[in-house]
Amino acid sequence: MISLEGRAVLVTGGTRGLGRAIARSFAETGATVWVTHRWGSVDEEVLAADFARDELRPPVIAECDASDRSATDALLARMASAGEPLHAVISNVAFAKLVRGLDDLTRRAFDLSVGYSAWPLVDLVQASHAAFGAYPRYVIGVSSDADRWVHDGYELVAASKAVLESLCRYLAVRLRQDGVRVNAIAPGLVDSELLVDTFGAEVAADLRARGMMLDPARVARVCVALASGWMDAVNGQTLVVDEGWSRVSPLALLAGGTGAWGAR
Ligand SMILES: NC(=O)c1ccc[n+]([C@@H]2O[C@H](COP(=O)([O-])OP(=O)(O)OC[C@H]3O[C@@H](n4cnc5c(N)ncnc54)[C@H](OP(=O)(O)O)[C@@H]3O)[C@@H](O)[C@H]2O)c1
Repeated sequence: MISLEGRAVLVTGGTRGLGRAIARSFAETGATVWVTHRWGSVDEEVLAADFARDELRPPVIAECDASDRSATDALLARMASAGEPLHAVISNVAFAKLVRGLDDLTRRAFDLSVGYSAWPLVDLVQASHAAFGAYPRYVIGVSSDADRWVHDGYELVAASKAVLESLCRYLAVRLRQDGVRVNAIAPGLVDSELLVDTFGAEVAADLRARGMMLDPARVARVCVALASGWMDAVNGQTLVVDEGWSRVSPLALLAGGTGAWGAR
């Protein structure tokens, strides 16, 4: 067991989906977990009860738009005044317009995608230093497979994830001598509301039946591992977290994905 008792961890967009799973995993270490949201789509009492059911300390929930630097500064200042050192920051929020036709590819849409999905990583690192007088020990950017595969309409998702991964690499080297470790994770298809909303319930059911959907809790544990101290030799990397599905040949998938090539 890893104990992060007495240390603070921040997960942006931590009230739902993968962010919530990451928050839960860090709560299991005893860390004080702070989660952010923008739209209040999750009832705070329901979220607290979800943690409490497994005897986890509920997270501190803060409204903070990931793309808003002054809101990020205010949040980090609030965290610093709580008195615990900042152990890890997980930049999890992403937002990008789906591209239905070439006209959707606009400079404004690109800027928005980067502003929500990549740049918050930089804001979080700078705001942490301003508030705590030190960088977080671990910084993790949540990327995806969008920059490796071509999904229908995912141009802006892919572009912003590519920017996020580049920023992780450069920050990793820049902050190395401060003892900071900066990495990205690139999960495959995570069983989540977002995936069902984006690709449809039928596709999601099919992916589930084939064992191709990742349990968010398993992805979340990779973040805790990266922030555990056991993986400090890993820095500036993007870790593909997909249980090996991106290694399976398209021919095997076409053949039905059975036997060694099939589920789990
Ligand atoms: N789902 C997948 O299959 C998958 C696969 C690979 C990678 N990922 C990556 O995993 C990350 C999370 O995805 P997800 O599917 O878990 O998302 P999600 O279910 O849509 O959850 C989004 C979370 O972010 C909050 N949020 C939304 N806009 C925000 C903003 N501007 N500022 C702060 N918080 C905001 C939401 O709360 P409110 O709505 O209440 O604001 C919620 O807590 C993303 O980076 C995504 O690219 C997902």
